[in-house]
Amino acid sequence: MSSYTLAEVAKHNTEESAWVAIQGNVYDVTKFLDEHPGGKKILLKNSGKDATSKFVNYHPEYVLKEVAPKFKIGTLSEDGAKL
Ligand code: HEM
Repeated sequence: MSSYTLAEVAKHNTEESAWVAIQGNVYDVTKFLDEHPGGKKILLKNSGKDATSKFVNYHPEYVLKEVAPKFKIGTLSEDGAKL
């Protein structure tokens, strides 16, 4: 399992490559942009960031447990301290 700093996640904020960090995990949602029930725009806008607080606000619990894992690519490490 790879670990990524927020600085690395921040580079992936486009339609070509969209990553989002949620509760310590990193997800590659590039292929999910068009399928996201909440819309492509909001997901792309929050890509390249730690979107934990927004994610928690907008989703029922099953999403993190059952949908998000399909897109998980690694975990978030502290910037400057790559684990
Ligand atoms: C791994 C990342 C994400 C996954 C897998 C995901 C998945 C989903 C799913 C499955 C739903 C439908 C939930 C339901 O009502 O049953 C949804 C809705 C939604 N999502 Fe996401 N989402 C992700 C990230 C985000 C982010 C970062 C935002 C930023 C704000 C966001 C905003 C929303 C909104 C606004 C809705 C619609 C809520 C509603 O109309 O009730 N999502 N998402």
